[in-house]
Amino acid sequence: MKVNLTESQVAFFQELLPSGTFVSSEQLFEYGHDETEDLNFPPAIVLKPTTVEEIASVMRYCHEHAIPVTPAGARTGLSGGALPIHGGVLLSMEKFNRILEIDEKNHQVTTEPGVITQVLQNAVKEKGLFYPPDPASKGSCFIGGNVSENSGGPKAVKYGVTKDYVLNLEVVLPTGEVIWTGANVLKNATGYNLTQLLVGSEGTLGIITKIVLRLIPHPTTDMLMLVPFFDAQKACEAVAAIFQAGITPSGLEFMERDALLWTQDFTKDYSIKVAANHQAHLLIEVDGFDAEVLMQECEKILSVLEKFETDEILFAESEAQKSTLWSLRRKVGEAVKSQSIYKEEDTVVPRFELPQLLFHVKEIGKKYGFHSVCYGHAGDGNLHVNIIKGNLSDEQWDTELPKAIRELFIEVVKLGGTISGEHGIGLVQKNYMDIAFPEVALNLMRAIKTVFDPKGILNPGKIF
Ligand code: LAC
Ligand code: ZN
Repeated sequence: MKVNLTESQVAFFQELLPSGTFVSSEQLFEYGHDETEDLNFPPAIVLKPTTVEEIASVMRYCHEHAIPVTPAGARTGLSGGALPIHGGVLLSMEKFNRILEIDEKNHQVTTEPGVITQVLQNAVKEKGLFYPPDPASKGSCFIGGNVSENSGGPKAVKYGVTKDYVLNLEVVLPTGEVIWTGANVLKNATGYNLTQLLVGSEGTLGIITKIVLRLIPHPTTDMLMLVPFFDAQKACEAVAAIFQAGITPSGLEFMERDALLWTQDFTKDYSIKVAANHQAHLLIEVDGFDAEVLMQECEKILSVLEKFETDEILFAESEAQKSTLWSLRRKVGEAVKSQSIYKEEDTVVPRFELPQLLFHVKEIGKKYGFHSVCYGHAGDGNLHVNIIKGNLSDEQWDTELPKAIRELFIEVVKLGGTISGEHGIGLVQKNYMDIAFPEVALNLMRAIKTVFDPKGILNPGKIF
């Protein structure tokens, strides 16, 4: 059900936020979408508060009047978490864009949620510090969105995902109360872990207004190689073998042939030669503080790769070449989106099962007649499966494809995996939650939601 606002409700928001209330159809359309497929659900009103008190007032009022509130960051999400599907208020956090304190003595940063992730990374890097989680959209996504989705990215394979860095959160609850979830400490065995409950809760439990993150010393050197394989399965098999040889790369990414070719067409950067028999590539990065050690690690990786039939390996020779390679990898998602209507799945399995996952994707594709372009964070067992609409009819797309996705997810869970590694469930995966969890576990989640949000006004219709 779509909730519109009465004139007096609009007037309340205009009085509360005279320069932060927007109702023009352009604004509503703009804030009706994130990066998920081509979906658009215009809200009834867009609010851009600037203080915690303003958010608390908005939440108190919406709680009292049962108005849905959908929090949004930079709206780069891929599971529809920021889509205001029930209308009502779209609460944009874009004005919360200050880094409040870089605490060099404790290796921590306190930030507002509307800071672009890469801006935060650069600011702490100036102090020699490192905030590793780096989703593909790091140049535009917000740190608050990363916390809400528990985002990952290429560095996760060595350094972990967003949750591994969040120490403490200031949160406005759906009822308008404001709490800190924990403390600014590295160890905390004090009660239930509300901080981690909020991380990845996709804006359904509270509005995050301040974030305390732990930082680590920034590595000083890295090496990057692009490895072409004649067989995509073999590329997947090589992944676990690299770790079994005792190496933990700081990035281990997989790109199927079409992922790279389509991205070259999208970026018009053809500097990497893709031969006719290259079926997939691994992009492998090692980092650290000692170039000698990295050389030894690269040699070990090369000796592992000898067993997997690769073509000539490209070692990035300059910072510019590294950045070209990473840029190609980071733009795969956008490139696919520009080519066709598509659906992006975010499957993740234990790393050694990656070849099996790819096998099932292709088998199910054959059965249902879809083409898929796969890429992703192979070192994490996290495969982004892009299902391309291509020549499929609307009927096949709407009725057959959900069956195919269900089959795929069932195989993923059989392999010990789950249905989203880093994009979240949001709107577009919620019909599959029964594959990942039994009803009793889903009921626990629903009960938690009700404790935080008794009237179900905060980001309704998401996750389950
Ligand atoms: C990536 C995003 C889509 O890995 O997660 O490119
Ligand atoms: Zn990804």
